[in-house]
Amino acid sequence: MAESKLTMEKIVNLCKNRGFVYPGSDIYGGFANTWDFGPVGVELKNNVKRSWWKRFVQESPNTYGVDAAILMNPRVWEASGHVQSFGDPKMDCKNCKQRFRADTLIEAHSKGAVAAEAMTNEQMEAYIAEHDIKCPHCGVRSWTPIRKFNPMFITSRGTLEAESDKVYLRPETCQGEYVNFLNVQRTSRAKVPFAIAQIGKSFRNEITPGNFLFRTVEFEQMELQMFCREEQSMDIYADYKAKALKYIEDLGLKAENLRFHDHDKLAHYAKAACDIQYNFPMGWQELNGIHHRGVWDLSRHQEYSGKSMLYIDPFTNEKYIPNVIEYSIGADRLTLALLCAAYEEQTLEDGDTRVVMHFHPAIAPYKVAVLPLQKNLSEKAKEVYGVLCKKFMCDYDEAGSIGKRYRRQDEIGTPFCVTVDFDTLNDNTVTVRDRDSMEQIRLNADELAAYIERLVEFN
Ligand code: GAP
Repeated sequence: MAESKLTMEKIVNLCKNRGFVYPGSDIYGGFANTWDFGPVGVELKNNVKRSWWKRFVQESPNTYGVDAAILMNPRVWEASGHVQSFGDPKMDCKNCKQRFRADTLIEAHSKGAVAAEAMTNEQMEAYIAEHDIKCPHCGVRSWTPIRKFNPMFITSRGTLEAESDKVYLRPETCQGEYVNFLNVQRTSRAKVPFAIAQIGKSFRNEITPGNFLFRTVEFEQMELQMFCREEQSMDIYADYKAKALKYIEDLGLKAENLRFHDHDKLAHYAKAACDIQYNFPMGWQELNGIHHRGVWDLSRHQEYSGKSMLYIDPFTNEKYIPNVIEYSIGADRLTLALLCAAYEEQTLEDGDTRVVMHFHPAIAPYKVAVLPLQKNLSEKAKEVYGVLCKKFMCDYDEAGSIGKRYRRQDEIGTPFCVTVDFDTLNDNTVTVRDRDSMEQIRLNADELAAYIERLVEFN
């Protein structure tokens, strides 16, 4: 296969055809910016979430997990500033009436070279005119002025649908961490510095140029808030920058496709902020954020709830509102980056071709596939499968030639294929094929689980 450029279209097609991700509400013609994870995709995303939890909660002694409600008291969103000022810069195409975000149009046009979030509306309008950025839908340049649009989804609670019943689907998970700051501190006897982490769904009424999982209306965030003293805060901020980068590199994103983007324009309360950007097929884009939020969030919740958010230092009895360092990454966006990073079209020595997904074994949807060489070996193969599936997600396939079955597993990134053949019946040995090198070794079936377990760990 001639080496060809990775496009989002290739990733979308593979995902749809191999059971990673389907368009949302597919039989109704889809539903803009929604996607459904299929049998292979749900395993991949769950493994990504597990790897994050393992790294940032399980292996971080001063970090505590929560799972807060999606629907929160609406006052939370007044305190957070989302009701008053959360808004994306939107513009409509006067010709085809489609709506777009001005900042994403600029970022897509400049392939991520221009950081539009630092621009005013006037600067974005001027940039769009100067670079003749046309409507991606109809190809005409006839834009309305930029307006702010609040992307929070509103629903109502109770039966009256009155203003007082109005509730919001959370647009970020971190508020569930702030409102539980003292609950967690008290019940876990936590001492500053400590962090609260959460993985959960967020919702934003996004209008996007359609980059698959990159920006969707419903997505999962993996967020962590570290509460600390002001004098420790810049060191902790630097530490999370390093930890965030190491985590995604350990998962398989290459250093040359990652870069820090320090924000020039900071919120008035912020002391520092940066993103880590990934070089997606559509260009450099934000993958995650690390923000020094000062005392803003807890102070605002203290003001709006009327409840003290003061931390009492157990050693000095000093009372203060801690500073917050936030680390936030989208599980779907990271899954997309990992899909892009894993994809390879290979021409093999014998001229044959294959598409192979080189996932880190810890996030591979299936750790192992059991393949009987012939159908009449299925009884023994099912016995092997029965042992392995108690330990790992395991696939079983007896349809088609062995070569075709290997290719199917390569395309979903299964790190090991175990072949049961006639020798297995005599000596209980199987062939284990490595996805990346395609090398094969012979192992006793009883040793398989321990062999694979060692190689699929995430450390
Ligand atoms: N609490 C801070 C916060 O929500 P954000 O930069 O708006 O900050 C954090 O979002 C991360 O969540 C992003 O870096 C991205 O990975 C993910 N994210 C945000 N909006 C998203 C969307 N519409 N679709 C998918 N992922 C999204």
